[in-house]
Amino acid sequence: ASTLGASAAERGRYFGTAIAGSRLSDSQYTTIANREFNMISAENEMKLDATEPNQNQFTFGSGDQIANWALNNGKRLRGHTLAWHSQQPGWMQRMEGSSLRSAMLNHVTRVATYYRGKIYAWDVVNEAFADGSSGARRDSNLQRTGNDWIEAAFRAARAADPNAKLCYNDYNTDNWSHAKTQAVYRMVQDFKSRGVPIDCVGFQAHFNSGNPVPSNYHTTLQNFADLGVDVQITELDIEGSGTSQADQYRGIVQACLAVTRCNGITVWGVRDSDSWRASGTPLLFNGNGQKKAAYDAVLAQL
Ligand code: XIL
Repeated sequence: ASTLGASAAERGRYFGTAIAGSRLSDSQYTTIANREFNMISAENEMKLDATEPNQNQFTFGSGDQIANWALNNGKRLRGHTLAWHSQQPGWMQRMEGSSLRSAMLNHVTRVATYYRGKIYAWDVVNEAFADGSSGARRDSNLQRTGNDWIEAAFRAARAADPNAKLCYNDYNTDNWSHAKTQAVYRMVQDFKSRGVPIDCVGFQAHFNSGNPVPSNYHTTLQNFADLGVDVQITELDIEGSGTSQADQYRGIVQACLAVTRCNGITVWGVRDSDSWRASGTPLLFNGNGQKKAAYDAVLAQL
């Protein structure tokens, strides 16, 4: 097939992008996004600060703008994200302890209930592990409510939307030998053994020269899949340009295709000019909307 989404579909997979609501009035952007991608993540519009700006006052206008664009164009939705230390509304940032635990579970329940039936997979919990060699949980107000906050969030999400796949999502979990990767693996293993509802693990996959695509990427994806979860690449971008960038993108696609339970890849934006990265050219289309060498490499591999 001649587009990323259609080619991935021939492989039983999807190819997605993050969409920013502010870009939906740009016809070059929507033309590319509609043509190439068949899974959509809201870049910011379903996060905690967007959906619950004041406690117990839920606002879904921005999230719905993206959800409706996706569903009206025949695409599936990845929900991002229900519980995260970052992009919390001010009232939540100031909360701790049992009141925060209740507020977090209420948020999970209300947002997952609102979107019930529309979401292919939710990033239920995002970025809960620390970087570096400790393998520990990341310190945050949510973590300080007790180590079981993650499983509590997953149980609340399952109750609210039983048909959505429930995922744990993180970054720097690509290299199998890293402590953070091992720690997330042990959590998923523990959840599976105790019947905590988890269906998938998302690998953000933000790569740059300091954090290159590891040579053991396929091993990482396969080891997680062997725990009995789907694996997805959820926020892919790779700093660089030309052949070297194209080769790294190709390697990612190869690694995913080699793992039966790797069922989709999402890039974190459409054109380089849409990227969250302050500078650089990490995506598949240039700022003029033209296909880059990395695009050709991905399409040829799919
Ligand atoms: C980023 C967005 O792209 C930016 O627009 C925003 O300012 C900050 O968040 N990991 C995630 C995403 O899970 O939600 C982040 O998105 C990028 C890192």
